[in-house]
Amino acid sequence: GKVAVLMGGSSAEREISFLSGKGVLAALQSRGVDAHAFDTGLRPLSDLQKEGFDRCFIALHGRFGEDGTVQGALELMGIPYTGPGVMASAIAMDKVTTKRVWLADGLPTPRYVRLAPDQQSAAQIAAAADTLGLPLIVKPPREGSSIGVTKVTDRAQMAEAAALSLRYDPDLLCEEFVTGEEITVPVLGSGADAIALPVIRIRAPEGAYDYQNKYFTDDVQYLCPSELPEEEEREIQRIVLAAYRTLGCRGWSRADLMIRASDRKPFLLEMNTSPGMTSHSLVPMSARAAGIDYAELCLRILAAASL
Ligand code: DAL
Ligand code: MG
Repeated sequence: GKVAVLMGGSSAEREISFLSGKGVLAALQSRGVDAHAFDTGLRPLSDLQKEGFDRCFIALHGRFGEDGTVQGALELMGIPYTGPGVMASAIAMDKVTTKRVWLADGLPTPRYVRLAPDQQSAAQIAAAADTLGLPLIVKPPREGSSIGVTKVTDRAQMAEAAALSLRYDPDLLCEEFVTGEEITVPVLGSGADAIALPVIRIRAPEGAYDYQNKYFTDDVQYLCPSELPEEEEREIQRIVLAAYRTLGCRGWSRADLMIRASDRKPFLLEMNTSPGMTSHSLVPMSARAAGIDYAELCLRILAAASL
């Protein structure tokens, strides 16, 4: 049948979604799938029914794509789609709600303070720095691709960091900074068949794993296979699978974590339920290390499309 690759959309990650979507589209077509681009930022989803699409590959990132809204509309239309369902997508879009779920299940995530719109006086923002200590991360709880994120090393930066984040989300997330290394781990599959793929270690110049360097430069080094002791890699994968299951994810996702330098303890930062599939993206890199090439990866994700 006909497959729509949903891309673009209307979030701040629209540009990245096109890079993901075009990659997925070309790969599916190269393997004989009757796949077509569909920009949800320009067209109503109801066109999917009118044009006889019977499955969707979701290559949207951020709000109105990765957050359960599109998933809900597809449920109502009865069109199977890739990746997690409505609830897991909605929870994972909000980094604070994600943390609450993980903490309730005893999974490790950095300490945080959430400031709602009525809790954002200069004194309340400064108090977050007292609670968490420095450095800390200020970020919009419902964004991706490092958009609106600041690492605050000096209290004097708090106001500016808050103002930047507030451009993207009315809530503020202040998070303890875990000193150590950043890693990411994809998960493929559903239920008892879900597997964690190889860990990727991210080596960015200090503070430079940002939007630009994630997608448009080659300044970041990635280590995959990770060269971590096998025991440590297994333990990280175990935590990531637990984090995936707890959120109710299915199909695929990618967890981002920090490993604390002092004791090698992993801390979950977030779950991306519609991860990037660009030429610089990490799920394809990890899959390749597991012997799954880009086109095969796209086919596997599509094959798991469900309602
Ligand atoms: N939010 C970006 C697309 C990612 O997680 O890969
Ligand atoms: Mg993200």
